[in-house]
Order: sequence, then C-alpha cells, then structure tokens
Amino acid sequence: MTLRAILAGTGSALPRTRVSNAELAERVDTSDEWIVERTGIRFRHIAEPDETTATLGAAAAKEALAAAGLQPSDIGLIIVATATPDNTFPASATKVQAILGAPDCIAFDVAAVCSGFLYAVSVADSMLRTGAAKHALVIGSETFSRILDWEDRTTCVLFGDGAGAIVLSAEDVADDRGILATRLHAEGKYCDMLYVDGGPSTTGTVGHVRMQGREVFRHAVTNLASVLGEVMADVGLAAEDIDWVVPHQANKRIIDATAKKLGLPADRVVLTVDQHANTSAASVPLALDLAVRDGRIKRGDLVVLEAMGGGFTWGAAVLRI
Ligand code: ACO
Repeated sequence: MTLRAILAGTGSALPRTRVSNAELAERVDTSDEWIVERTGIRFRHIAEPDETTATLGAAAAKEALAAAGLQPSDIGLIIVATATPDNTFPASATKVQAILGAPDCIAFDVAAVCSGFLYAVSVADSMLRTGAAKHALVIGSETFSRILDWEDRTTCVLFGDGAGAIVLSAEDVADDRGILATRLHAEGKYCDMLYVDGGPSTTGTVGHVRMQGREVFRHAVTNLASVLGEVMADVGLAAEDIDWVVPHQANKRIIDATAKKLGLPADRVVLTVDQHANTSAASVPLALDLAVRDGRIKRGDLVVLEAMGGGFTWGAAVLRI
C-alpha cells in the first residue's frame, strides 16, 4: 500500500457577467477577428464588485466538497493559489475558510501567478503524504480584471475571472491512483517580462499587468514541453499513455504548439480558453472541473496538468483519477 493524494472532487465558479470579444471591442481598440486569430479567446467572465477572489474560490470549493461527499469540517488544509487576493493580507485562504465555516485548519495562499495551482497541488501533495492533513482543498481563484489596464489592448483582451477547486484526500492505495509526480520551476531573471507594475512594498498601489507577449509565448512553449517531458519520465510513461492533458488556458496557439511538440493529438487536450480566456491560477482547475463534469475525464484516466506564468514560473503534475 502507498499513501497518495487522491482526487476526491472538483468544482468551479464563474462570475455572472460574460463579455464577448465584440462587446469588448466597443470599449477597447480591438476586434473579435484579431483576438480569435491570435489567442482563440471568444468570451471571458468579469467579476462584479460583490464577486471577489475569496467568494468565487469559496463557491468553487463548495462544489468540490459536495462532489467529494465531504463537509467543511473534514478539511485540514486550504491552499488558495492567486495573484489577486481580496486584501494584501490576510490570505484569501482564511477568507475562504470563514465563508465555508470550516473550523481551525491550515490555510494559506500561494503566489506563483498562472502556475499557482500547480505549485499549490505540489505543496498539498507533499503535506498530505507527510500526514499534515487528511483532506485538502486546493483552489485557484482570480479576479484579474481588477489588475488589468483597460487602456492597454495588448493585455486586457487576454484575461478573465473565475475559480476552480479540487479536494485531495490522503489514502493508502494498492493501485496507481492519485498524484504520481509533480515538477516545479522558476527563473526569476525573466521577472520583467510579465509582471504587475505596483505592490505594497514598491509603489503602495495595486498596479497593472505588463507583458512582453512575444517573449512570453516563446518561453511558454519551450518550458511547458520540457516540464511535461520531465513528469512523464518521472512516472515512466510516454505521450501515448496520457488520456487527457489539462493545460493552462492562456492562448490556443501556445496549447496547440506544446501538444504538437509532444506528439499529443488535439482531441486529448481540454480546451476552455475560448470560453474563459486566461484566468491565471484558476484556469487549470476550471478546465479540469469542466472535463470531469461532462464525463470526458473519468476514473482510471491518466491526466497531466501543466502551467506557466509570471516569474517565470512553470510546472506540471501527473495523476491517475
Ligand atoms: N487588438 C488588435 N490589435 C492588437 C491588439 C488587440 N487586442 N493587441 C496588439 N495588437 C496589434 C499590435 O499593436 C501590433 O500592431 P502593429 O503591427 O501595427 O504594431 C500587432 O497587433 C501585432 O502585435 P504583436 O504583439 O506582435 O502580436 P502577437 O502575434 O505577438 O500576439 C499575443 C500578441 C496574443 C499577446 C501573443 O504574443 C501571445 O499570446 N503571447 C503570450 C502571452 C500570454 O499568453 N500571456 C498570458 C500570461 S503568461 C501565460 O499564461 C503563459
């Protein structure tokens, strides 16, 4: 028997308001054609003032708990991956805990931007396997619309808001179910290529997203293909063994180019970027929840998660459902 972190349930939450490319083009100098051709994005959800990273994260967490058949009181660890916390502090994880009414447990945020969910999964996996908790809520939640410069068409058309959550449970298993491998990376020398130009310790303001799009694109394809190769080698499996890839949903061209590099057919890649745009740390758990709920991802499937984001940071995970 091996102690592993098992996927026990998934959930997601999207803001009420959905904005199409055509609606965006009424306020920004852009077009549906340009956005679809360069990114594959057609819609994004934008949070109303009463919808925050914590409220969206808690809504996603409630769905994941229900899917796992657990109560908030069963949870011993809450990790929220986010770059857009409700407040500088406390951690959004503690706000989620309060909204859920979960009693005393471990709760903290992880900041690795678009790779945040992969970092959070890796940390939760380690903590569950060393006995820190029996059940963990791992949430990616973002309100990126609050840090977009709506005058900058090169960034504001790319992002959206939302949340995804999973429950991971520590279980002694005789088979290969659960998280089988995770790999994380960071290269801080590239931190000026994708960043927010504000913060508590520098400007004292929240700031806006700034990005060198072409450089990000180039690094994303190289790093994602490389980290996917690493995790698959860790578990001794090949591309043809993968049932589903759930990639970070930044740009359809990045997803297609990465899949092509690895020889993965497009029909094994979960794609939501057209509906959600880039929801940063929320994008992987949102896409995972969608594919679990529509029956594509099922018990026994080998699933690979991957993401890359500001820092640069990037990572991947392999799990058997
Ligand atoms: N609408 C219309 N025209 C635009 C827009 C827009 N929204 N944005 C830029 N343009 C124009 C530019 O001004 C430029 O015009 P010019 O030739 O007259 O100067 C032209 O389009 C081409 O601009 P580029 O920046 O060269 O366009 P590119 O083909 O590189 O596409 C994009 C830009 C989509 C941002 C691409 O570089 C990209 O996807 N990069 C990856 C960025 C990303 O995904 N970031 C997410 C965070 S990181 C991550 O999650 C992996």
